[in-house]
Amino acid sequence: MARGVTGSTRDFDSHGSGSNPGGPAMTSVRANSTRRPLAVVVLAAGQGTRFRSAIPKVLHTLLGRPMLEWVLEAASPLKASKTVVVIGNGAEQVKETLGKRDGLAFAMQKERKGTAHALKAGLKALKAFDGDLLVLCGDTPLVTAAQLSKLLVAHRKSRAVCTVLSAVLDDPTGYGRVLRHPSGEVTRIVEQKDANETELALQEVNSGIYVIDVASARTALRKVRANNAQGEEYLTDVVEVFASDGQAVRALPGDASCLVGVNDRWQLAQAEMDLQERINRAHAEAGVTLVDPTSIRIGPDVKLGIDAVIGPDVSISGNSSVGSGSRIQRAVLIDATVGKDCEVGPFAYLRPGAKLGNRSKVGTYVEVKGSSLGEGSKVPHLSYVGDAIIGRDVNVGAATVTVNYDSETKIKAQTRIKDGAKIGSDTMLIAPVTVGRNSVTGAGSVVTRDVPDGTVVVGNPARQIRKSKIGSKKSTVRGNAKGASSK
Ligand code: UD1
Ligand code: CA
Repeated sequence: MARGVTGSTRDFDSHGSGSNPGGPAMTSVRANSTRRPLAVVVLAAGQGTRFRSAIPKVLHTLLGRPMLEWVLEAASPLKASKTVVVIGNGAEQVKETLGKRDGLAFAMQKERKGTAHALKAGLKALKAFDGDLLVLCGDTPLVTAAQLSKLLVAHRKSRAVCTVLSAVLDDPTGYGRVLRHPSGEVTRIVEQKDANETELALQEVNSGIYVIDVASARTALRKVRANNAQGEEYLTDVVEVFASDGQAVRALPGDASCLVGVNDRWQLAQAEMDLQERINRAHAEAGVTLVDPTSIRIGPDVKLGIDAVIGPDVSISGNSSVGSGSRIQRAVLIDATVGKDCEVGPFAYLRPGAKLGNRSKVGTYVEVKGSSLGEGSKVPHLSYVGDAIIGRDVNVGAATVTVNYDSETKIKAQTRIKDGAKIGSDTMLIAPVTVGRNSVTGAGSVVTRDVPDGTVVVGNPARQIRKSKIGSKKSTVRGNAKGASSK
């Protein structure tokens, strides 16, 4: 399946047979290739007081991915020469979460004295750097790669020392307001808490995202003081420093829906809904049918094939994929791989490592974990399949359990069911155990020993009663209650 491309719905690449709108963006942004070098600093040291949480704010997740990672994903196509994350509150946790990402540097802000103070800390990790500096906030997770690339291009085309990404909002409450000179140049950004009534009425707000010439930023930051309502060193004050020095500052109004700042859990929930809509819409545009999309949760790394049909109340997360033509109803999939033309649900639970071959079926009240199901095989109802390797064209009758865990030895063991086998209803497969090719277990069997190919076993413990007729010429097994499974 093809990987999708984006951060935003609009630049979603829908060719190929699959879609993955939240995946790593592969568009290369040309803006940076021949121009000045670029460094990125993400401010992420803040306390997030309004979250009332023991977890650092930037690690709160949207669709399973920490806010801070969404920001880094949006910046990654810019291919900055260096990316620095400013950490402080919960620094160790943040480092641990992001440590796996390549090419990331961390800068410690020991005390939280405001966004200017945070950027100063970040710049200590960029001592030798000269060029453009993209400043991002760890709490604006909806920003897209396309938006950032536009900002960079606009900045580089202008002669401005700093370009602010702004947004025009119906309700600007809580954000810093952008003050412009009649010429359009930005003169100042005033925080909500410091603004007078006229300023509060302004609807153009600061997103907290800027491109600044790094040498100018270093100089301006030295002049920022904490003489304001919050007693903090505001990064926004560099705008006034530049303007009063005759250096041009521009503001580029961007897509308001991508620039929201997340300061509490309600805003987090709303941001998640926005992101989900963006992802679902991109899948729909790429050829996936979504029935009642507001009830469908699809993670950012999920891949879906064309003509897959995702019904209401489905949740697909992690590195899951669903092949083309498959139908998923009221199911939960975590790190699961579903082939083409499969049926899953209603009420199925595919846990990590579940791998369904093409044309297979996992039906009602079935849980599958760490198991593979071969082509055309079916587990239609009420079963647990864990740590099993199931071949092709196998039927697993209702209420079958792969008994994979020994609570005395704490050992998990594997069950193998070979091609063509038919497992009778309510069979207990005491692992490790193998059911041979074209073999049959009677209803209620407790299978404690391997079943050779082509045999019928029944009872507790299951014992062989005869050869199986499956696969043989006279293979219409009729009226054999013991070998029967429900359909
Ligand atoms: C900030 C801007 C505001 C803008 C808004 C957009 C300032 C003074 N204000 O306000 O104009 O409209 O973002 O969302 O910059 N941080 C640190 N260290 C600190 C303080 C903050 O790293 O000492 C980080 C936070 O973790 C956060 C970011 O900086 O990721 C922004 O800080 P926050 O306190 O959320 O600023 P806002 O009040 O939202
Ligand atoms: Ca904020």
